[in-house]
Amino acid sequence: MNNRFDIDFLRENMMGPNCVRILEELSEDFTLKPDARVLDLGCGRGLTSIFLAEEFGARVFATDLWIPAAENFQRFKQLGLDDRITPIHAEAHELPFAEGFFDAIVSIDAYYYFGAKEGFLDRYMAPLVKKDGLIAIAVPGLKKDFDAEIPEELVPFWEEDMNFFSLKWWQDLWSRAETIELTHCRSLRCHEEAWQDWLQCDNPYAKRDIEMLKAEGGRYFDTIGMIAKKTGDAENREPASGS
Ligand SMILES: C[S@@+](CC[C@H](N)C(=O)[O-])C[C@H]1O[C@@H](n2cnc3c(N)ncnc32)[C@H](O)[C@@H]1O
Repeated sequence: MNNRFDIDFLRENMMGPNCVRILEELSEDFTLKPDARVLDLGCGRGLTSIFLAEEFGARVFATDLWIPAAENFQRFKQLGLDDRITPIHAEAHELPFAEGFFDAIVSIDAYYYFGAKEGFLDRYMAPLVKKDGLIAIAVPGLKKDFDAEIPEELVPFWEEDMNFFSLKWWQDLWSRAETIELTHCRSLRCHEEAWQDWLQCDNPYAKRDIEMLKAEGGRYFDTIGMIAKKTGDAENREPASGS
């Protein structure tokens, strides 16, 4: 991983497997023009927004539900990036942006909370992107979908919103979308390191995940990256609210 980030700053602001490491690898397969308008959806404390602004010179709309925009604004201001990164507090189904506004949407370690369902991509994501624009996400997932039940050793850690699915599951979901073309879908090499970086954070959720990863033992989890190109508009689509 490049050393753009101070390790203490990273550890203070990570909210899951190292999103900077993940985005760095995902972005081997795409580029953004300087000044590209990018929605960083589910940006958490904005690490990936900082990466997008610094690495690509993008103008980033750092959008999140759990982290207040005011908190992210302070962080961006301290780094002198408040002219390039606009913090927004919003929910993924009610995004306050115009249709066709973005050159790209990026979402690292967040999309599975809201996007793991039929139609979400066509209805809420693709309309916000210009034609030929980019949608790039990475999610924690599974090497193989669980059949009927969560493996016994993972049950104590499992939460209702953990929509972990296999690469094939995500590939099938995105292949059914009408308004994008899926160009990349792969397991990311950095999976193990990204989790190890997270487990070293002084964060109660990281401490809890240490036990989960011990139980998982490298048998089930994967990190899945997907990139799509916006190809067109859905027919007979109702506009998403906020557009
Ligand atoms: C595990 S955290 C990851 C944050 C950040 N991407 C990172 O990797 O550090 C998941 C993020 O998804 C965001 N999120 C979850 N559900 C959301 C929703 N419905 N709309 C917008 N953001 C959502 C949360 O606010 C949270 O910051």
